[in-house]
Amino acid sequence: MNANLSSFLISIVVFGSLLGVCHGAELRKHFYKDSCPLAEDIVKEIIWKRVASNSTLPAKFLRMHFHDCFVRGCDASILLDSTANNQAEKAAIPNLSLGGFDVIDEVKTELEKTCPGVVSCADIIALAARDSVSYQFQRPIWEVLTGRRDGSISHKSDSEVRANNIPSPLFDFSSLKQSFANKGLTVHDLVVLSGGHTIGVGHCNFFSNRLYNFTGKNDADPSLNSTYAAFLKTQCKNLSNKITIVPMDPGSPLSFDNNYFKNLKLNQGLFQSDAALLTNNEATNTVDELLDSQDFFTEFGQSMKRMGAIHVLTGSSGEIRKKCNVVNS
Ligand code: HEM
Ligand SMILES: *[C@@H]1O[C@H](CO)[C@@H](O)[C@H](O)[C@H]1NC(C)=O
Ligand SMILES: *[C@@H]1O[C@H](CO)[C@@H](O)[C@H](O)[C@H]1NC(C)=O
Ligand SMILES: *[C@@H]1O[C@H](CO)[C@@H](O)[C@H](O)[C@H]1NC(C)=O
Ligand SMILES: *[C@@H]1O[C@H](CO)[C@@H](O)[C@H](O)[C@H]1NC(C)=O
Ligand SMILES: *[C@@H]1O[C@H](CO)[C@@H](O)[C@H](O)[C@H]1NC(C)=O
Repeated sequence: MNANLSSFLISIVVFGSLLGVCHGAELRKHFYKDSCPLAEDIVKEIIWKRVASNSTLPAKFLRMHFHDCFVRGCDASILLDSTANNQAEKAAIPNLSLGGFDVIDEVKTELEKTCPGVVSCADIIALAARDSVSYQFQRPIWEVLTGRRDGSISHKSDSEVRANNIPSPLFDFSSLKQSFANKGLTVHDLVVLSGGHTIGVGHCNFFSNRLYNFTGKNDADPSLNSTYAAFLKTQCKNLSNKITIVPMDPGSPLSFDNNYFKNLKLNQGLFQSDAALLTNNEATNTVDELLDSQDFFTEFGQSMKRMGAIHVLTGSSGEIRKKCNVVNS
């Protein structure tokens, strides 16, 4: 090899790795393989133990991961407490009814004993979402890449709908599409991930306009199945009820499956944002595809991987929090 060619090749290698640095590190499989080999086992063990005695937790962690990723990227900003000078995202929580924070703290405490300062809270959320939903199957049902780092900023206003981050259950199709596009997600991801509503509950006030006053004329939403609407009215007796919850997938509220899409086809999506998926051809085609259970599980894993990568902090960005509810001092 002549000298010019080899120095050319060396400069490609050097320049290439510089580019790599500039672009930052990426998420990868088993990021903690060397730095904390037991990390993923510890998360799974605690999450499975807690889910075994509290079947509402999978829905809490799945939604927590979604909200974390849609506000400032998957950086665990959702876990930060408010301080004297700052109202955190959590301050918007009375409305958002998130839960499971105590379990995240338990996992973090255990990880800090085993490998202090190594595993990020953002990765704990992503793993907790996967492991809690997977408990039912006794095996991981999607792959989670790791290597996220924790952010240090959390603002209440970012969680509010007007900040254009968390989509509203009143959104129509084009607003939903825009909300996901803002995070680099497609209509396909929107439909697939809406399937997360196969577990968990919704409060009456997020949909009772569809039962009682859809267009301001004391009317019902014509796109809502009237048999289902009659049932919902027995649960949510008036427009001011903000406390009653109903399952989003009444036939199997604790089972992670593709029934959400079967319900949608019967016009039994709970929120306007669910029903909106049938108002667009591309979205409806995806709904139809996901009536195949195998397709749903495959696609859900793929879309979760994209959601779990939204604006992540990696490499030397951000920090590894010592406690998940406060930034390091
Ligand atoms: C497409 C836009 C979405 C909208 C408008 C939306 C809206 C909502 C609303 C209003 C609730 C009920 C909250 C309550 O009453 O306590 C809810 C619950 C839930 N959402 Fe979504 N969501 C969306 C997407 C997602 C995604 C992408 C996921 C995860 C992949 C997800 C997972 C959940 C889960 C698991 C629950 C149940 C929580 C529980 O039982 O505590 N949602 N969602
Ligand atoms: C959220 O809660 C605050 C304070 O309780 C209230 O003023 C606001 O209207 C609520 N927002 C929604 C969307 O329920
Ligand atoms: C289950 O977890 C939820 C969410 O953290 C919590 O609100 C509820 O009290 C727990 N239930 C039991 C029986 O511990
Ligand atoms: C129904 O909506 C209309 C128009 O927004 C409003 O004027 C009316 O007070 C609502 N009815 C009830 C029972 O809240
Ligand atoms: C609406 O329903 C709730 C819960 O069922 C009840 O406590 C409240 O008194 C009702 N309010 C009105 C105005 O009927
Ligand atoms: C409404 O739901 C019932 C089951 O509760 C189903 O038999 C019926 O086909 C649905 N109607 C429409 C229009 O989707």
